[in-house]
Amino acid sequence: MKLFVDTGNVKEIEALAAIGILDGVTTNPSLMAKESGDYRQILKQICQIVKGPVSGEVVATDAAGMIREGRDLASIDEHMVVKVPFTREGVKACKTLAGEGLRVNVTLIFSATQAWLAAKVGASYVSPFVGRLDDIGATGMNLIREIVDIFDNYEFGTEVLVASVRHPIHVIEAARMGADIVTCPPAVIEQCFKHPLTDIGLEKFLKDWEKAQAAKV
Ligand code: E4P
Repeated sequence: MKLFVDTGNVKEIEALAAIGILDGVTTNPSLMAKESGDYRQILKQICQIVKGPVSGEVVATDAAGMIREGRDLASIDEHMVVKVPFTREGVKACKTLAGEGLRVNVTLIFSATQAWLAAKVGASYVSPFVGRLDDIGATGMNLIREIVDIFDNYEFGTEVLVASVRHPIHVIEAARMGADIVTCPPAVIEQCFKHPLTDIGLEKFLKDWEKAQAAKV
């Protein structure tokens, strides 16, 4: 399962890329709004760091506007993926942009039928939001299971990108279900690294080693 980070922050992306665990980046208008500077330049910089798929989202709500913005986003760098919301207009825009050979990530997916319709029009990625479903008392991960099952029955080239991830259990379940990609906020990636027994174990190893060295002197 590929790991994307869900942020528009260059420093956070640099730090994760330096470890060697990052396959791509997702952004959205809320995330980009937190960053200062020109969004096109920030996206370009992110592409150069990650050298993998970087989703930039359109803000137009009509298909013509999404297509125009999508072409512009794609022109920033070869790694850019155009993110469009799942609406009738978004699906229409996806059909056109994918037909032109651009990669499209259809976002704000909350049902399996939405994922299926996006796949039908050539989306490269669908982004089902698990955390936001959990927030309203549904079980977000059930949606991932449904979409993975459906896509496994056909020849769609669409990857399942698990989004709105809130904690490592989402990551584990996504991997067990065979999702293609998980996009996590940096804090969740940090949680995936952490285990108190690793810290305690390392501290003990080093102390024991030091004690043994001191005894030899
Ligand atoms: C996905 O691409 C979205 O940017 C993101 O995962 C939304 O997550 P949120 O529900 O934490 O805002």
